[in-house]
Amino acid sequence: MFKVILSLMGFVNLVGSNFHTQYGTEYGQKAAEAYAESNHGPDGALFLDPYFKPMLENLHHSKVLDAGCGAAPWSIYAAKNGGRVYAIDVQDSMVQAAKKAISAAKMVHKIALKKGDVGNLPYKSKFFDREISICVACNLPIESFYKHFFEFKRTLKDDGIAVVAAPSSLDIAFSDGSKTTDEISSHIDSVLRQLPNNPDPNLISERLLKLTEVLSATFYIKNGRLVLLKNENEISNGQEIWRKLPKLAVPNRYYSQDYYLKCFKNLDFKVLNVDMPHFNTEEERLEYNRTLSESKLGPEYLAHAPFSIYRIQKNKESVGDEKNQSIFAYLFSKNFREKFGFIVSRQNN
Ligand SMILES: C[S@@+](CC[C@H](N)C(=O)[O-])C[C@H]1O[C@@H](n2cnc3c(N)ncnc32)[C@H](O)[C@@H]1O
Repeated sequence: MFKVILSLMGFVNLVGSNFHTQYGTEYGQKAAEAYAESNHGPDGALFLDPYFKPMLENLHHSKVLDAGCGAAPWSIYAAKNGGRVYAIDVQDSMVQAAKKAISAAKMVHKIALKKGDVGNLPYKSKFFDREISICVACNLPIESFYKHFFEFKRTLKDDGIAVVAAPSSLDIAFSDGSKTTDEISSHIDSVLRQLPNNPDPNLISERLLKLTEVLSATFYIKNGRLVLLKNENEISNGQEIWRKLPKLAVPNRYYSQDYYLKCFKNLDFKVLNVDMPHFNTEEERLEYNRTLSESKLGPEYLAHAPFSIYRIQKNKESVGDEKNQSIFAYLFSKNFREKFGFIVSRQNN
């Protein structure tokens, strides 16, 4: 009976439009379309493309996994550059958006698109040469966060490289520079003040969309009220948050950079580098803005990085290599509990 109720709850969540679900987050049709259209927005184009494009070029039939592919912009790029691409996403609306984009790009024969969960990948062990997970783990409930990277490691060939991007500087409201910091602050206050206690997720999403000048900001529920995150120490890993992005507002989860690094370390990934790109000078920012026709990048992008980008490698000599173990056996093993107790008992940073 309990199982039936749980699966019904999952079903209700999945058909709803803007929810935290058991698999990740449900953006809903509109947000999925907005995400597909914004194609990483003006900050993604600058701070993500230079990392992902070079690793997805000259692929010579290498097998590439695009985990949480969204509308598949990276899958298409990799396929056009000679990759044999496997794209997977859990949301129907995203899979549909990906199908449309792949077909428009005439890449159907080069990309195997599937609906599925990044915490339980339907691929053989040691199958991929390269893997990417771009702003996906921030959608996952805490139980799935570790499973996602466990599966990443299982399906990657020895010495294979994976690149993971995550939103960063979550305590900064990044703007398009059209208003002063004070004006933005009072606009955010007025939008939040109009929300009732314990607001409905769709209402949150609808109201946050009014913050058109905000390109990226994080909110969470504190004592029943939706508030702007001003200090990352206020929240815990795995906690439900809301993110305002260009033209959409979506439910997400908070994970600190330290949490990602602990996870990679506990899975014996070699962390090759962690980049947090941002403008170094005001001149750089102004120069970049001159290349944009509409939305610009505000002064917050000087010195604050909107993304963390982790380049990790599967260690051939991985201790306790769990390739022959199922994820469940591993999760309940003594080895896992000793190495990764922090996932089982939720804690800060
Ligand atoms: C912020 S979007 C990023 C999409 C894409 N990686 C990109 O860079 O354009 C996050 C994506 O992760 C997907 N996602 C969330 N949880 C997932 C899960 N458990 N399994 C597969 N995909 C998931 C969402 O449906 C969404 O398409």
